[in-house]
Amino acid sequence: MIFEYAAAPESRSVVKIDPVYGHFINGKWVNGSSHFNSINPATEEVLSQIALGTAADVDAAVKAARNAFDKSWSKLSGRERGKYLFRIARIMQERAREFAVLETLDNGKPIRESRDVDVPLSAAHFFYHAGWADKLEYAGVDTTTAPHGVVGQIIPWNFPLLMLAWKVAPALATGNTVVLKPAETTSLTALLFAQVCQQAGLPDGVVNIVTGDGSTGSAIVNHPGIDKIAFTGSTEVGKLIARAVAPTNKSLTLELGGKGANIVFGDAAIDETVEGIVNGIFFNQGHVCCAGSRLILQESIADEVLEKLKRRMDKIRVGDPLDKNTDLGAINSAEQLAKIRELTAAGEAEGAGRWSANCELPTNGFWFAPTIFTGVTQAHRIAREEIFGPVLSVLTFRTPAEVIEKANNTPFGLSAGIWSEKGSNILWATQQLRAGVIWANTFNKFDPASPFGGYKESGWGREGGRHGLSAYLKGSAK
Ligand code: NAI
Ligand code: MG
Repeated sequence: MIFEYAAAPESRSVVKIDPVYGHFINGKWVNGSSHFNSINPATEEVLSQIALGTAADVDAAVKAARNAFDKSWSKLSGRERGKYLFRIARIMQERAREFAVLETLDNGKPIRESRDVDVPLSAAHFFYHAGWADKLEYAGVDTTTAPHGVVGQIIPWNFPLLMLAWKVAPALATGNTVVLKPAETTSLTALLFAQVCQQAGLPDGVVNIVTGDGSTGSAIVNHPGIDKIAFTGSTEVGKLIARAVAPTNKSLTLELGGKGANIVFGDAAIDETVEGIVNGIFFNQGHVCCAGSRLILQESIADEVLEKLKRRMDKIRVGDPLDKNTDLGAINSAEQLAKIRELTAAGEAEGAGRWSANCELPTNGFWFAPTIFTGVTQAHRIAREEIFGPVLSVLTFRTPAEVIEKANNTPFGLSAGIWSEKGSNILWATQQLRAGVIWANTFNKFDPASPFGGYKESGWGREGGRHGLSAYLKGSAK
C-alpha cells in the first residue's frame, strides 16, 4: 500500500515583512543609502529590500557600540547582564513561530528544521549564556574576566539566526558590545532579532546590526575601533580576514569550512547508520560546515549500506520548505546552486559514479536532488573541496589504519562521525582523528554547552561551552 501525503503548509500570516529595511544602530532604525533584494530561494519571490551598509554606516555602528560599552554595558554586573539575556531568550521562545517561518522563507530550509532545530537552539544559546554572565570567575577559563570591548561579527547564510545566537549570546554574556553583519541572502531574522532587543529593553548600542555584503564585512574587519572579530563563513574569506587582522591588535576567531568524514565500520548497525548518513549530509540541504560529506565505508558492508542508502534517499521529500512534510528544501542562492553544479560536474568528469534520488524538482527557485558519488578517490575534487550541498562522496577502506589516513587526508578538520558497535573501536578512532567534533553512532547533534570548532583550515578558536567564553574575554590566545 502506498500512502500519499497531503500538503501541510505552515501559514506565513504570522510574519510581517517590511518592504524596505534599514540598519539597526544605537537602538534605532537608520535608513540605508542603497538596497538589494532578499528573495525566497524556493520561489524567487522578492521578500524585501535590504540596506547595503557602507563604511559610514559601520562607523556609526562602531561608535554606538563603543559608547554603549563605556557608558552602560561595562558598568553592569554580570547578574544584570544575565537578566537581559534571559529576557531575549524568552522573547525568542514566545516569537518562535514567527522566527521559524521567516527563516524558512528567507533561507529555503524546511520549516521542520527551522522550527525544531534553528529556533529552539538559538533560544537555548541565550539561556545557556545568560547562566554564565554572573559566573565567569568560576568558568575555569585560562583568561581574565574582562571583555574585549566592541566585537565585530560576520555570519553566513546557512543557519542565519543560529549563527547570530552563537555570536551574540557569548559576546553579551561576557560584557562586550556588538556590531553584527548577517549574510546578504539571509538578513531578515537578524532584523527581527533587532526588534527582540528593543522589546527586551536592551540598552541602545549594545547590539547593532548593519546589513550588507562582503564590502560591508570588510569595513567591519578593517575598522580601527573594533577590538575583536568573530567570523563564520568560507575558508577563502577567513584567510582574507586573517591577513587583514594580523598586523593589528584585534583578537580573532574563525569558524570556516569542513569536509567531515563519516566512517562506517563493518560491525555498525546498518539501518541506524543509514539514518545517520542521511542526517549527516542532507540536513539543511547539506549547507552545513560540519556535514558528513565524505562517507567512508568498510568494504565488507559497502554494498549493503549503499543499497539501503539509495532506497532511503528515494524517500526524501524535496519541495516546498513551508510544508511540514518536507525533508529537503531549496538551495540558498543561484550562486550556491552554480557552485554545487560545478563541483558535481567535476565529480563526473573525474570518473566518479553519480546517482541521484528519483524526485521531481520545482520549476521556480533553486533546487538540487539528493545525490551520491561512488568510486570516489582521495584525488577527486569532490573528496577534497566543500560542496556545501546535498551531495555525498563515498569512499571505502579495508583496515582501521587506512580509514584514519583517509579521514585525516584533508585540509579541513571540523567534524567526523564513527559508526561501530564497539566502544573500544570508537575511542581508538576518536584519538586518531584530527577533527574538532566527533560524533559516535549519531551525527549533527548540537548543544550550547558543547564547544564547537576545528583544526587546520576549519578555523581558530571554539564557540559554545566554557571554551567559547574565553574567546570573548581578554587574554585569550589570538
Ligand atoms: P562567504 O564566506 O563569502 O560569506 C560569509 C559571510 O562573509 C557573509 O556575511 C559575507 O557577506 C561575508 N563576507 C564576504 N566577503 C567578505 C570580506 N572580504 N570581508 C568580510 N566579510 C566578507 O561565503 P559564501 O560566498 O556565501 O559561500 C561560498 C562558500 O563558502 C560556500 O559554497 C561554502 O562552501 C562556504 N561556506 C561555508 C560556511 C561554513 O559555515 N563553513 C558558511 C558559508 C559558506
Ligand atoms: Mg562570498
